[in-house]
Amino acid sequence: MPESEWRITSLVVADCDELGRVHTRIWRETYAGLMPAGYLADLSETRSAENWRRRIVQPEGVDAGSLTLVARRDGHIVGFASAGPSRDADAPTEWELHVINLLQTVQGSGLAELLLDRVLGERDATLWVVEGNARARAFYTRRGFTDEGGRSAHEPTDALEMRMVRRGTPD
Ligand SMILES: CC(C)(COP(=O)(O)OP(=O)(O)OC[C@H]1O[C@@H](n2cnc3c(N)ncnc32)[C@H](O)[C@@H]1OP(=O)(O)O)[C@@H](O)C(=O)NCCC(=O)NCCS
Repeated sequence: MPESEWRITSLVVADCDELGRVHTRIWRETYAGLMPAGYLADLSETRSAENWRRRIVQPEGVDAGSLTLVARRDGHIVGFASAGPSRDADAPTEWELHVINLLQTVQGSGLAELLLDRVLGERDATLWVVEGNARARAFYTRRGFTDEGGRSAHEPTDALEMRMVRRGTPD
């Protein structure tokens, strides 16, 4: 799909209710089988929306220096991405991709690459990905990220996450 088909804008307060719904839906699509069903069922669109609103209205810590973009097709949010200063005390890069999330309906469309380029540019960066998320790992690997051994448990579910790192401009 040509770039002009997407409308990509910085997140504003008016987006947050819809973003909360989309964020929750993407988590349920992505982590079915990788996280407990009860945890996914209990995710709250309202809580997600409130979190995003707070990050804009009262940004604290890394949120203050972060960039969050939402992508729309036909007026509806279909994906989003956020990057900013790393949250890790031992981070090998200053910058971190905090999140990139697309609805299944637009995966494989080129939007992910577009969003990644817009939020990260050519910066060195880290990211955390659930080890069992094979599609995301393949996407990041193709974009120059490698596994340097960092591991952590996603606190609410114990899902194992791995840190991937990109240094230098990818091919
Ligand atoms: C991760 C994400 C941003 C990638 O965007 P995308 O548009 O799906 O990515 P692409 O289609 O360009 O690339 C996906 C790659 O995974 C491959 N792939 C697809 N399904 C796969 C699977 N089940 N196992 C392994 N690889 C898979 C594709 O072939 C492609 O590789 P290639 O380009 O080398 O052929 C998107 O899938 C997404 O938002 N997923 C849901 C949320 C998520 O997981 N976010 C990341 C959290 S860390």
